[in-house]
Amino acid sequence: MTMDLLIPDKVHDESRQGEALVLEPVGKHNGRKLYIESYGCAMNFSDSEIVASILAEKGFETTSDFNNADVVFINTCSIRENAEVRVRNRLKEFAGAKFRNPGMVVGVLGCMAERLKAKFLEEEKLVDVVVGPDAYRDLPNLIEQVDSGQRAVNVLLSREETYADISPVRLNSNGINAFVSIMRGCDNMCSFCVVPFTRGRERSRDAYSVVAECKDLFDKGYREVTLLGQNVDSYKWSGQLAKGGEALAVGDEITVVNFANLLEMVALVSPELRVRFSTSHPKDITDEVLHTIAKYENICNYIHLPVQSGNSRILDIMNRTYDREWYMNRIDAIRRIIPECAISTDVITGFCTETEEEHNDTVTMMDYVKYDFAYMFKYSERPGTLAAKRYADDIPEDIKQRRLAQIVAKQQEYSFYRMQARIGKIEKVLIEGYSKKSDKDYCGRSDQNAMVIFPVSENYKPGQYVNVLVERTTSATLIGKIV
Ligand code: SAH
Ligand code: SF4
Ligand code: F3S
Repeated sequence: MTMDLLIPDKVHDESRQGEALVLEPVGKHNGRKLYIESYGCAMNFSDSEIVASILAEKGFETTSDFNNADVVFINTCSIRENAEVRVRNRLKEFAGAKFRNPGMVVGVLGCMAERLKAKFLEEEKLVDVVVGPDAYRDLPNLIEQVDSGQRAVNVLLSREETYADISPVRLNSNGINAFVSIMRGCDNMCSFCVVPFTRGRERSRDAYSVVAECKDLFDKGYREVTLLGQNVDSYKWSGQLAKGGEALAVGDEITVVNFANLLEMVALVSPELRVRFSTSHPKDITDEVLHTIAKYENICNYIHLPVQSGNSRILDIMNRTYDREWYMNRIDAIRRIIPECAISTDVITGFCTETEEEHNDTVTMMDYVKYDFAYMFKYSERPGTLAAKRYADDIPEDIKQRRLAQIVAKQQEYSFYRMQARIGKIEKVLIEGYSKKSDKDYCGRSDQNAMVIFPVSENYKPGQYVNVLVERTTSATLIGKIV
């Protein structure tokens, strides 16, 4: 087990790792069953919905049991070594099913497929198909190739692909929250990070298709969308667009849509539709974005702003392109413009050459911000990254571990502090369903993204908003009653 601390939220929910996606075929049945499970970030879960939609068009039915599947896909993550180890172990579990059913097609999708390319076929004998994140439209052809006795690889990255026209099918969701991808790839080249290599160049999706998808979700009863990208603040799309998101006629003026504009357009879909987004990059988050969040009640007061380190020298060799002062300035701007905003972060401990003193700057940054949540990781060297080429991974495992444990303990204090501060307050909660522990309680999230538990009332059902008076808390949950 790793010591990564993950306080689950919708975007970083650890309990979803390895979740299977189930949906109905939309095309004519082809008699074959698809099993697909996902690892990694919300982008991957969102991509699996696109993959399932592409294959549903071709008549594939999905199953939640890989043992009776004809096609088994695993959508993989490369972000840390243990993410890859987990996938390799899972592949071993598929081997038995393939032995019993030699006609079964086993495919590796996503970031690990992109990182390892055809090498995957040499390393893992049971794998028939390797497909990178920009090549999913090719899946039906690739499956045909495998049917004809070949093994197939498509890991071409694209500068344009956004799957804008594919509307993801979402049948195993709760019908209330949905992810909407607004961009793909990343151009940032943080030195520790494998994502620019596995996901390719940054590109923004047609703003009109984003708004149309959100409208469609709202009409189907969804009440919360999370706009996804590795760096949403650098969203930029230019095209033809009219107010309210309607497409204009050919020849109309070209409009440039930045992230603040897009947020506003999605917020205007309906005041009853909550809008969340992830991830913001400290170098790019603008006051304009903050003012837009403040202006619309339905854009949630919650920002995930990964700091990675509180020390300017470490930030520099991480190639994050901001320093400690810049980050603090962005925090001050958030506090000034959106006083009630919850803030969460990502931290890496034990990055190359990090001294005890530099680590301590991360600790004092946590004291400065008092984050609501944090996702904390030990540095894991990734082959091919700038850091792997330039710097030795020279912090011993036990020191990485100790530093991680220290910030985990610190964060637990601040999470508890933030939760305690909500006692006696009234939170507007979107009911998501019954609580995991008891069907006598509902659960849902507050504007600030805290999980809230309260007794079921006959007058309200999932998908509706209620005001909940917070009476007590655990370190991760607010507990109260409807008022
Ligand atoms: N695009 C987002 C992060 C995506 S990856 C951003 O820039 O903030 C999610 C988190 O994983 C990162 O924020 C970082 O904290 C962590 N991470 C990425 N690469 C890592 C590595 N090599 N070792 C440990 N943690 C890593
Ligand atoms: Fe990785 Fe940095 Fe891009 Fe985030 S912004 S995905 S950490 S390269
Ligand atoms: Fe992992 Fe790829 Fe996401 S490496 S974190 S699945 S972009």
